[in-house]
Amino acid sequence: MDQDQLKRAVAAAAVEYTLSKINPDSIVGIGTGSTANCFIDLLAEHKHCFQSAVASSDASAERLRGHGIEVIELNAAAEVTIYIDGADEANPHLELIKGGGAALTREKIVTAVANEFVCIADESKWVDYLGTFPLPVEVIPMARSYVARELVKLGGDPVWRENVVTDNGNQILDVHHLYPVASACALEEKINHITGVVTNGFFALKPADILFLATQQGIVTHHPKT
Ligand code: 5RP
Repeated sequence: MDQDQLKRAVAAAAVEYTLSKINPDSIVGIGTGSTANCFIDLLAEHKHCFQSAVASSDASAERLRGHGIEVIELNAAAEVTIYIDGADEANPHLELIKGGGAALTREKIVTAVANEFVCIADESKWVDYLGTFPLPVEVIPMARSYVARELVKLGGDPVWRENVVTDNGNQILDVHHLYPVASACALEEKINHITGVVTNGFFALKPADILFLATQQGIVTHHPKT
């Protein structure tokens, strides 16, 4: 199977899992990216099995609405039953790097609210240690250079993702050369404490609850290694 087929396969597995968790009153959280898009397209066949969706990006909201799925503001959701999203890297603790699609802040917010965070990925995303994929950091535009200098002090090599403006009106720095990250939790906290950082793409303080990984041998279910 090529990577697109793996993404579709893992999205199908996640739809089955989601259907086992939701009811007609449920609000489903939906992530961003090509794997999340596969999930949206397959979930649309079951749009009468849940009440509405919240989305982690304008792009996903638009795709959901295109399928006739109601999308509501997160502030209007008393509870989000489940959140399904892709990742750029995942380790055996189900700590992730996310934000390749520049949606990391809204993704982290929906993750915080949801009762369960389900990560879906193809096997190319599975790593022993995080940090090969450049870490996205969302910054307030006027703080970009200052934050970049502070990230250099932490040993990283930040590169401004020019011409990208997030859904929140901010900018992205991609931090290279962090590999191998020994403690993603510590680094997540440290980077978030730099003034001007909105958030960073480590999802380690709150990792995924479950990961469905598409491999050539089939879908493998991972729970966080303790
Ligand atoms: C977007 C994300 C995506 O989940 C991540 O980039 C993976 O994307 P894809 O499924 O296209 O590989 O974090 O901000």
